[in-house]
Amino acid sequence: MTEKRKVGILISGRGSNMKALINAAKAPDYPAEIVLVISNNPKAKGLELAKDSNIKTKTISHKDYQTREEFDQKVTHALEEAGVELLCNAGFMRLHSQQFVETWYNRQLNIHPSLLPALKGLNSHQRALDGNLKITGCTVHFVRFEMDTGPIIAQAAVEIRPEDTVETLSDRVLQAEHQLYPEALRQVASGKAKIVGERLIQTGNGIQQAPLFSPPLTK
Ligand code: GRF
Repeated sequence: MTEKRKVGILISGRGSNMKALINAAKAPDYPAEIVLVISNNPKAKGLELAKDSNIKTKTISHKDYQTREEFDQKVTHALEEAGVELLCNAGFMRLHSQQFVETWYNRQLNIHPSLLPALKGLNSHQRALDGNLKITGCTVHFVRFEMDTGPIIAQAAVEIRPEDTVETLSDRVLQAEHQLYPEALRQVASGKAKIVGERLIQTGNGIQQAPLFSPPLTK
């Protein structure tokens, strides 16, 4: 296959989405390779997971920098040094400066645990339950300056069950995230998903036959 796109991942914590991307990228025909994981949090569990997978890691603590811009510049520098072409945020808990967003424009992906544009921001599962939603899910999108906005690349819908708690719901959404993020990155890295203006153009997708009803139809 043609050369793989070099991908960097930004994390702050557990790193389960990062791990899903690392695992997917092990496949010989996957169009991307993970060349660097950066955490702003020295204690992030994901750092250990990445090291266990022999992926290069770097900690850049935001606490060591006076301004968001200085921290962001340091991150960009490390990514560029590693030859990163595409960037994936995976549970990265810092907002970016305008300049950072511009530097990585249409080259930076994020995953969010809701069906955007609904439930932007933190605690999306609690708010989904509080709002009596029947369906939620997860979204992978290109990053724009405003938090949790930007052209949507892929979404997965997950039913909310009457007995759900934040824990059971987030577990189920997380399982979908781990499938969705590698697929979204595959589409971007292979050129199957492209941005034209602010619209995402995708080629070669199948058609899903069954709509998700929640609660399921009884007749
Ligand atoms: C995920 O739910 C992701 O959607 C959100 O933060 C969480 C990160 O989890 N942005 P992990 O660190 O990937 O396990």
